[in-house]
Amino acid sequence: MTESMDSCERILVKYPLFKTAITRIQACFDSHDATAEPDCCPLVGESGSGKTTIIAYFASLHPRVDHKWGVEVPVLVAKVPARPTVKSFAETLLYQLGDPLWSRGNTVSKSIRLRELIKRCRVRLLALDEFQHFVDVRRASIVNDVADWLKEQVEEARLAIVVSGLQRCLEVLRQNEQLRRRFGSTLRVSAFRWDVKEDRTTYRAFLSAVQEQPPEYEMPILADLDLAFRMHYASYGLISYTMKIIRGAARIACSHPRRQITLRTLSQSYADHVWSERLNDPNPFAEKFDCEKAPPIALPSATACIPSGTLVSRAVRLELHA
Ligand SMILES: Nc1ncnc2c1ncn2[C@@H]1O[C@H](COP(=O)(O)OP(=O)(O)OP(=O)(O)O)[C@@H](O)[C@H]1O
Ligand SMILES: [Mg+2]
Repeated sequence: MTESMDSCERILVKYPLFKTAITRIQACFDSHDATAEPDCCPLVGESGSGKTTIIAYFASLHPRVDHKWGVEVPVLVAKVPARPTVKSFAETLLYQLGDPLWSRGNTVSKSIRLRELIKRCRVRLLALDEFQHFVDVRRASIVNDVADWLKEQVEEARLAIVVSGLQRCLEVLRQNEQLRRRFGSTLRVSAFRWDVKEDRTTYRAFLSAVQEQPPEYEMPILADLDLAFRMHYASYGLISYTMKIIRGAARIACSHPRRQITLRTLSQSYADHVWSERLNDPNPFAEKFDCEKAPPIALPSATACIPSGTLVSRAVRLELHA
């Protein structure tokens, strides 16, 4: 990977909601020791809205430290395994804490080792990503035994917890009274909406910030109303697609001497990375794309498989001057 590609891959924009989320997670972190019952917080949003990035950034602010007495792990980050059992979940947490014997022993001895390690490593905050894995979609049920086990483990150590995942992960808290009691209001991250003025302004500010970060690329002003609309149309206003298109364009531009990103580069990047998922929509970076006549778009989460009855059609007709 070249250096310039690297800089594009590393772009991190601290948009307003990102900062709010970090402040809230910091408050949970600080509440460990300070209060009888530490603050816990759910972070939910559709796929690609930036949840994992928020958690990873927060963890990077409180990195592991090697002491003479051992390793301190202020923030323990783990992804809930798919279809978790107490065994697989305990193993994941032990592994993340650096236990070389993470797979050794029965469930009881793993649980005891985990509690000891949590104390020894001075863990203050447990961040559980992909928390929706606690919801068994096929059986339409919650893996309650694992949720109960989790509650027992964190209770003794008085850990603050942040859980992040898709909207349906809130069902786990709704159904588990003892876990729910610990959790405060939900932090929501989602796609920026073009038809909401504040979101539109923030999305354009996001694009400006992206543009400032890899200075070696020449590109049109992404936050200009017309181009921002196209970017939004191409990405549904989701950070993941926005960054995929920009990073893809940077990779294409890398091989050009002036490292120039043009509308055509963006069009090619969109065709390479996004179009296969929405063949019925026009390429918004094509010259003939008419912002005023763009057909409506629906967020991927609105067309994904969601239990009937909860499905809400979210196709929206966007207008450039909404
Ligand atoms: N603040 C940000 N600045 C720059 N890029 C970001 C930011 N947040 C997210 N991204 C990029 O968007 C992509 C998706 O982000 P992330 O994986 O955090 O989403 P997610 O909400 O966890 O998605 P999923 O639910 O599918 O796990 C990643 O490539 C990431 O680098
Ligand atoms: Mg994620």
